Amino acid sequence: MNVRMCFSDDTWPDGFSVKKGDMVVYQPYAMGRMKFIWGDDAEEFRPERWLDENGLFQDESPYKFIAFSAGPRICIGKDHAYMQMKIFSVVLLSSYIFKLTDETKVVTYKTMVTLPIDGGLHVHASPRLGPTRP
Ligand code: HEM
Repeated sequence: MNVRMCFSDDTWPDGFSVKKGDMVVYQPYAMGRMKFIWGDDAEEFRPERWLDENGLFQDESPYKFIAFSAGPRICIGKDHAYMQMKIFSVVLLSSYIFKLTDETKVVTYKTMVTLPIDGGLHVHASPRLGPTRP
């Protein structure tokens, strides 16, 4: 969860009122699973929900995908984190083919701050051999 303190009385777009000094808490974990935000398949791991009809990445409003917060204090390392994930994926996937050790095992996570994979993700990695690689 994340917390903000109100510096002044305010009325939000939906008519809800807050007073100076109120604490407002929002729950990125819950928001990431809410059907009214993400649709009926909210709880499904469906990375293609981030692609448009041409297969191109389409960004979401940070107020909807709130993992990095939003507004003036949005995570300053967001682009760095995305770049790191992309570089990591490109290097690994272009060098190796990964296969789950147990294809029948349901992959899920532990409910902790960083949501680590429960029991780890056990895979066999075999080198991708191509004309450009020895
Ligand atoms: C998946 C990775 C990351 C996530 C989910 C994440 C998430 C967040 C969130 C939610 C906030 C807002 C905290 C708040 O105001 O209450 C934040 C702020 C911040 N993040 Fe990240 N972050 C990530 C990676 C990074 C990286 C890689 C860096 C630095 C290289 C970074 C640097 C910062 C800094 C400096 C702030 C404070 C910004 C400010 O208050 O003006 N973050 N991050």
